[in-house]
Amino acid sequence: MGALKTRDGFTTGLGVLAATLGSAVGLGNIWKFPYLTGENGGAAFILVYIISTLLVGLPVMISEQMLGRRARANAIGTLQKLAPKRQPWWLIGVAGCLAAFLIMAFYTEVAGWVFAYIFKSLTGTILSTDPASTSAEFADMTGSPAQSLIWQWIVLIMIALIAIMGVSKGIERTTKRLMPILFVLLIIVCVRSLTLDGAGEGLDFLLEPDFSKLTGEVVLVAMGLAFFKLSIGMGTMITYGSYFRDDQNIPTTAAKVMLADLTISLLAGIAIFPAVFAFDFNADAGPSLLFITIPAVFASMPLGEIFIVLFFVLTAIAATGAMLSLLEVPIAVLDELTGLSRTSATVITIGLLALVGAPAALSSSTLADFTIADKTMFDLYDYATSNVLLPVGGFFLSVFVGWVWGFDQVKRALSNSGALRNERIIQAFFGTVKFVTPVLVLLVLLDGLNVI
Ligand code: TRP
Repeated sequence: MGALKTRDGFTTGLGVLAATLGSAVGLGNIWKFPYLTGENGGAAFILVYIISTLLVGLPVMISEQMLGRRARANAIGTLQKLAPKRQPWWLIGVAGCLAAFLIMAFYTEVAGWVFAYIFKSLTGTILSTDPASTSAEFADMTGSPAQSLIWQWIVLIMIALIAIMGVSKGIERTTKRLMPILFVLLIIVCVRSLTLDGAGEGLDFLLEPDFSKLTGEVVLVAMGLAFFKLSIGMGTMITYGSYFRDDQNIPTTAAKVMLADLTISLLAGIAIFPAVFAFDFNADAGPSLLFITIPAVFASMPLGEIFIVLFFVLTAIAATGAMLSLLEVPIAVLDELTGLSRTSATVITIGLLALVGAPAALSSSTLADFTIADKTMFDLYDYATSNVLLPVGGFFLSVFVGWVWGFDQVKRALSNSGALRNERIIQAFFGTVKFVTPVLVLLVLLDGLNVI
C-alpha cells in the first residue's frame, strides 16, 4: 500500500523555539559577532547591527516562516506553490540551496576547529599565555591538510547522524536538550570574565560607540551579519516554518528568537572582551580571535584550563543547532522534490558538502595561495554568502511578500486565519516588509559593494 507519507514537524511550541533559536545561535554569535565587533569599532557596529535586525532581520524572518508554514514545503516548493504561475520566484529557493552549501563549506571547517579545540584544551596543548605560541598551535592545525579535512568530516558525520533521525526526533530533540546547556555555560564564562581585574575596559568597548569607523562597507557587513545571524535570506526559515504548528504565533516567535539571539551575542561579547582587555590582548585580531587570542586569555586567568573547555563545548553546541538547520534546506528539497528517503537525501547532501567544503578546509594549507578577488576560498564563500547572496535573497523575499503575495494573504497567515488578534502587529510588519526592508537592503548592498 502506498501509504501517504505524513510530513514530519516540530511537536510543541517549545520545540519550535528551541529548534529555531538553535538555528539562529551559532558560530555567528561566538565567532563572527565578537571578531566583527572587534574589527569594526565595538559599540557603533553593534548599534548598526541591532537596527539591521529590527528593520531587515525580523521582517524577513517573519516572512520566511509565514510562507513556509502556509505552503508546508521545502524552500523551492514553497515559492512554487505560493507564487503566481510562470513567475520564477522559486529561484530564491534554488539560490538558497546554493547558499546553504557555500555556508556549510566554511562553517563546518570552523566547527571542526572548535571540536578540535575541545580536545586540545582538555589535553592542555593550546593553553599558553603567549599569543605567539597559541598562534603557532593554530597555524599548525589549519596548515595541516589532513587535520583540516578530518575535523570537517567528523563534524559532517555527526550532524548527518542527527539529521537522519528526522525533524522531531533528531533536530527538535537535540536542540531542546542542548540550548539550555549552552545558556548556562555562557553565563558561567561571563561571570568569570566580568570578575577579572580590568574587565571594565572591555565593557566600555562594547557599550561606548565610536562612529568614526562606520563606512558603507561596515554597514553592509553589519547587515550581512544580521542575515547570517538570524539564518535568513536563503530558505532556512522557510524550511523550519514549514515544520511549525498551525497555532504557532509567528510574529511573537520570531521576535523572541531575535531577542534571545541578540542576548546570546551580547553575552558572548561580555564573555570575551572584558577578558581580552584585562590581559591586554588585541580585540581586533579578526577571525582568529577565537582560536588565538581566546586560548591565551584563558591561560592567563585563574582556573582558565577549566573555563576554556566549557567555552569550546558551548561553542560546539551552538554550531550544531545552526548546522542542522543549514543542512535541512537541501535535505528537504531533495527529499520532497525527488522522493528520495530522508536517509538517502542526507547522505547525498553530506557527500556533496565534503566536496564543496574541501577547498575551504584547505584554504590555510594546500590552497592558501589560490585566491579569487584577493580572497581564499574560505573567505570567498563567507563574503559571497553573508554580504551578497543572503541580502539578495532577503530583498526578493520581502518584495515577494509585500508586492506579490499581498496584505490579505499576510493577514490570514499571521493571524492564524483570524484566531489571533494581532492586527496592529500585522500592519506594522506589512508596511515594513513592503517599503522599508527592500529599499534598505538594496541601498546598503549597492553602497557596500561600491556600486553607488
Ligand atoms: N545563524 C547561524 C549562526 O549564527 C548560522 C546559520 C544557520 C545560517 N542557518 C543559516 C546563516 C542560514 C545563514 C542562513 O551561526
